Amino acid sequence: MRRRLQLIPWKTAGRVSEQFASADEVIRQTGWVFNNETGSQLTIDEFVATGDNEVLAYLEVFGLRTPGNDERTVVEIGCGIGRMTCAFTHEFSIVYACDLDAGFLERCRETVARFGKVDRLRTIEVGDGRSLEVPTDVADLAFSYITLQHCEIDDALELASESVRVVRAGGYVALNFRSRSGADALLLPAGALIRSLFRIPRFGRWLSQRRTVARFAWQVNRLQPDAVIRSLPNVLTEVKVWRHPRSNVFGTGAEIGTFDGINPHHWWLVARIA
Ligand SMILES: C[S@@+](CC[C@H](N)C(=O)[O-])C[C@H]1O[C@@H](n2cnc3c(N)ncnc32)[C@H](O)[C@@H]1O
Repeated sequence: MRRRLQLIPWKTAGRVSEQFASADEVIRQTGWVFNNETGSQLTIDEFVATGDNEVLAYLEVFGLRTPGNDERTVVEIGCGIGRMTCAFTHEFSIVYACDLDAGFLERCRETVARFGKVDRLRTIEVGDGRSLEVPTDVADLAFSYITLQHCEIDDALELASESVRVVRAGGYVALNFRSRSGADALLLPAGALIRSLFRIPRFGRWLSQRRTVARFAWQVNRLQPDAVIRSLPNVLTEVKVWRHPRSNVFGTGAEIGTFDGINPHHWWLVARIA
């Protein structure tokens, strides 16, 4: 089977994260996957605190922080080392945390054991980058942040479709995507070129461990709301596209919501399953 190049930088980052003794050290030494900062002052506590704030802000703004969440189930796609997962375990009774990389999932369990409620956590490896080993209709919410933009278009759309599958009728999906910007004329071809260099034996492996270069390689797709909504099963109601007030992203027939906490290059699809 052809190697799936867009998965390489994440697998590499996962392997690198396994070389450190603690999640604190991963944050200080690499920073490369999650907040792009490195330095001796960084702590996992602060990192998780950013996730706590963002989870609560997004749930509030999207109208998903409602009484009864402590009896509900959430599926998080692209949990990484658990920055947001901790907050989900405080809010929901069961959290399926899904990620491509088994090393990140191990770190995620460690982070949640320290800052969250680990008895509520189930970790799921997304081995093929597109299928969720999560039962159908099991969840009340499927949530994904800064992950779908890093997948090949087909994988991103398949994961979006998987989100709809795992959420039961009456539940919600909240999926984050990245829209086009001027810089993409450079970023996307540079990302594709670097991913193709990962194929070169030895050099490719060395290259995938260089943080600055790997950041380019993460840049994979820019999907617009209509393309995502069209690709999904016809079961969505209350479809809303959320974006920064200065962004001009729109979805045909979708209501628009604005929140200045959203990155101007991002947008969210929030919808209810009929
Ligand atoms: C930028 S990190 C974001 C992590 C987390 N959502 C956060 O905000 O802290 C992206 C995560 O998505 C994961 N990822 C990338 N492609 C994926 C795929 N096809 N399926 C599942 N996870 C994926 C990576 O391994 C990484 O942990």
